[in-house]
Amino acid sequence: MARLAREAARLANTSKFAEQVRQAAEAGRHVDVSKFAEQARQAAEAGRHVDQTQVVAEASRLAEQAQTAVKAANSLAELERLRVEYLGRSSQLTELRRLVRELPVEARPQVGGAANKAAQNMEGAFETRWAELTVAEREERLRSEAVDVTLPGVPYPKGSLHPSMRVVDEVVDFFVGLGYRVAEGPEVETDYLNFTALNIPPGHPARTMQDTFFLDEGLVLRTQTSPIQIRTMLSQEPPVYIVSPGKTYRRDSDPTHTPMFHQIEGLAVDRGITLAHLKGTLAAMARHVFGEDVKVRLRPSYFQFTEPSVELDVSCFVCGGADPKCKVCKGAGWLEMLGAGMVDPTVLSEVGYDPEEFTGFAFGMGPDRMAMVKYGISDLRLFFEGDLRFLRQF
Ligand code: PHE
Repeated sequence: MARLAREAARLANTSKFAEQVRQAAEAGRHVDVSKFAEQARQAAEAGRHVDQTQVVAEASRLAEQAQTAVKAANSLAELERLRVEYLGRSSQLTELRRLVRELPVEARPQVGGAANKAAQNMEGAFETRWAELTVAEREERLRSEAVDVTLPGVPYPKGSLHPSMRVVDEVVDFFVGLGYRVAEGPEVETDYLNFTALNIPPGHPARTMQDTFFLDEGLVLRTQTSPIQIRTMLSQEPPVYIVSPGKTYRRDSDPTHTPMFHQIEGLAVDRGITLAHLKGTLAAMARHVFGEDVKVRLRPSYFQFTEPSVELDVSCFVCGGADPKCKVCKGAGWLEMLGAGMVDPTVLSEVGYDPEEFTGFAFGMGPDRMAMVKYGISDLRLFFEGDLRFLRQF
């Protein structure tokens, strides 16, 4: 009885499974497995032993088919799809393995072994191909993303320094190297600081020399950077060593004058400063800007806030005085460079310094003019027209 009952249960199971695989076969899947299942069912019904050779053959056929497909796979994505197809939960192999559990005990080891072996073969094939494809895909990516470092870059138009600013930088660098401080001041200046404190009182004829732009309420556009001397001395005690680049304004316009131009002021106030210090300092500056071989000379001049006053000439850095037809110095051998002098004691007193204890020198130069000379430019107006054909040359 017990044997009969067991047999009945097995039959019920087997036919239930057979029904499942039949449905699957109708849906187009697992044909071979269902064929075997059907046979298994029939064999079981007839009380015969199941013929396992067919299912074993089916397992190895599946493994072979999978291996061929895996070898032909060309991408990791395709490989993953094949893995799901051949080893996934609804693959034929999985179906086959489920079937094992339905089989009579004596049939299980051989069929189960065949299924496991098929699975191992497939997994091995997947691993091998996965490694190959990973390397290939990485190489392909390296190839396609490679950057040719020898290709010239896209040119990026860079600005350059204005010729005047190049000279300003050279001069300022030189004085900073000597320990001078850079001081700046406003371009709208009081009449007092631009003139009166510099020993040019109201009504003084020297004022007319400086074609001034007057603003309201005692203000002017500064005609010179010299008011920065006054501002600095009013705000600190000596010693003073400053250099002051900036924009200045005069009502003037021709090939060598523009209404706005640049000046660089210098001031040194200390104990024991002499005209020799002035000459030595400016000679070193001229060599820094125009070359080691240039010489300087001082000529007497007049400024309201310096006494004595001088103008400084630099020997022609192009011909050195040897070419009577030189375009730069016009045969003179010398180039007028700047105005300077010993700070007038009246100015020192005005800012509260004791002229008995302190002396100083001051100088003022025009970097635009210096750039014209240095770069051989004949028309100052070119500097301020913003013509790129001109500016690109610097
Ligand atoms: N400020 C004077 C000018 O513009 C130049 C100068 C500066 C002269 C300092 C002497 C000392 O003409």
